[in-house]
Amino acid sequence: MTNKTDRIIIFDTTLRDGEQCPGATLNIDEKLVIAKQLARLGVDVIEAGFAFASPGDFEAVKKIAQIVGIENGPVVCSLARAIKADIEAAAEALKPAVNARIHTFISTSDIHLEYQLRKSRAEVLAIAEEMVAYAKSFMTDIEFSPMDAARTDPEFLYQVLERAIAAGATTVNIPDTVGYTTPSEFGAMIKGIIENVPNIDQAIISVHGHNDLGLAVANFLEAVKNGARQLECTINGIGERAGNASLEELVMALHVRRQYFNPYLGRPADSQESLTNIDTRQIYKTSRLVSNLTGMLVQPNKAIVGANAFAHESGIHQDGVLKNKLTYEIMDAQLIGLTDNQIVLGKHSGRNAFRTRLKELGFELSDTELNKAFVRFKEVADKKKEISDWDLEAIVNDEIQQAPDLFRVELVQVSCGSNARPTATVTLRTPEGEELTDAAIGTGPVDAVYKAINRVVNVPNELIEFSVQSVTAGIDAIGEVTIRLRYESKVFSGHAANTDIIVASAQAYVNALNRLYASLQTQQKPEEVTAQKV
Ligand code: KIV
Ligand code: ZN
Repeated sequence: MTNKTDRIIIFDTTLRDGEQCPGATLNIDEKLVIAKQLARLGVDVIEAGFAFASPGDFEAVKKIAQIVGIENGPVVCSLARAIKADIEAAAEALKPAVNARIHTFISTSDIHLEYQLRKSRAEVLAIAEEMVAYAKSFMTDIEFSPMDAARTDPEFLYQVLERAIAAGATTVNIPDTVGYTTPSEFGAMIKGIIENVPNIDQAIISVHGHNDLGLAVANFLEAVKNGARQLECTINGIGERAGNASLEELVMALHVRRQYFNPYLGRPADSQESLTNIDTRQIYKTSRLVSNLTGMLVQPNKAIVGANAFAHESGIHQDGVLKNKLTYEIMDAQLIGLTDNQIVLGKHSGRNAFRTRLKELGFELSDTELNKAFVRFKEVADKKKEISDWDLEAIVNDEIQQAPDLFRVELVQVSCGSNARPTATVTLRTPEGEELTDAAIGTGPVDAVYKAINRVVNVPNELIEFSVQSVTAGIDAIGEVTIRLRYESKVFSGHAANTDIIVASAQAYVNALNRLYASLQTQQKPEEVTAQKV
């Protein structure tokens, strides 16, 4: 093993660190849908979760290991504190994977040692060594992270890394846990590690970083220039607090500027060979999927995947782009899977055309999923003449969204307008199959619908975010509603798409309530699960 691999390993932690942001909680089926898409995207390693954190996390890691951790598939990884029980849970959950990795960690900064771990440096050194060796007794592929490395005394960091590698770590990950470092400092830290850890040539250097100062991607690129060869990142940059380094930004920076980065990886500057294994045409779809399932909206001006990333508003820019795209565009939108093919199907299109187009868009649905999506497609096509790729994507994502189907919206009826009191009637099918109807008055039609739904479901909660976005332009566009609600300390998200935004609002709300309801039914209280996350 050497740090001089000639390409960059992409380690995706959307399902572990990404899932740690409030409200991004995913159920097992949703995690599996995302893991399959990450495999299609071509990530090298999927951190599928933190097996010890809860029975749900354990099952999710196990299922991903079984279904995605196949021959020629990505390495499936589980996080584990440097504690025997954590490592055992990770090893057990990862058993079905052909290529598996345990990622174990312990804090190394003085501030963490003093206030969080209450341990001396000598104790931490011994634990790191012992637990890496213990993890190694289960499998060969072991990653070790000295948590808060960016604020750790470099001399101590070198010692910990040396001991971890000697004990069997094949990847050593350098986390900027609190998003504190700057690019030149982070680059120098990687250089220092290469120069001062005697056995560093026996491990890959990885980096992990949070975006508290908005510097995570810049820090990683500087780390690459100094010898880091694995990047830990998430789709849309989601994650703890301000999030993690964003996969799409890193991959596209390495792709668009490969002439600049090539020499750092020992390649001729003009080499056209990709620096990562990522199929960039899957980026946009993956971003939308993660946003829909986690309820974490992508800001319009977000680099690469934001709605405005390829939109030119100014007249001068538009004029230039029409004459030659390269005047104002540094990359082609098709590279990330955006298509110019906007109008594809209509209400006379058959199942075959539907299936073929979905395949072209990269969706592989089971027969049952295809049937359900086709019924939805026909409903939408009845209301909307032209169904674009964006609409198809919204329909399919909505259908494969796996929120537990406990309550179901059967009817929504509203009466509103000027000089009228917004009134809503809703009928929900309960988990027991009973149909319950109630009505309410609200400040507007959505408020009235939500009040009526609350009267049926009867779980107190606070709506903290409500957003409607149009999938395409035009009066008959599909509206996508994303909501987040809070119950005690936990946030739940819901998402739905419909040509009727009041119906979409009702479905998104019930979708979130179903997640809340499901979490209340499990043994662990929601705040206990949150407390165990890293
Ligand atoms: O931010 C962090 O330090 C982490 C570690 C567990 C790698 O997420
Ligand atoms: Zn992290």
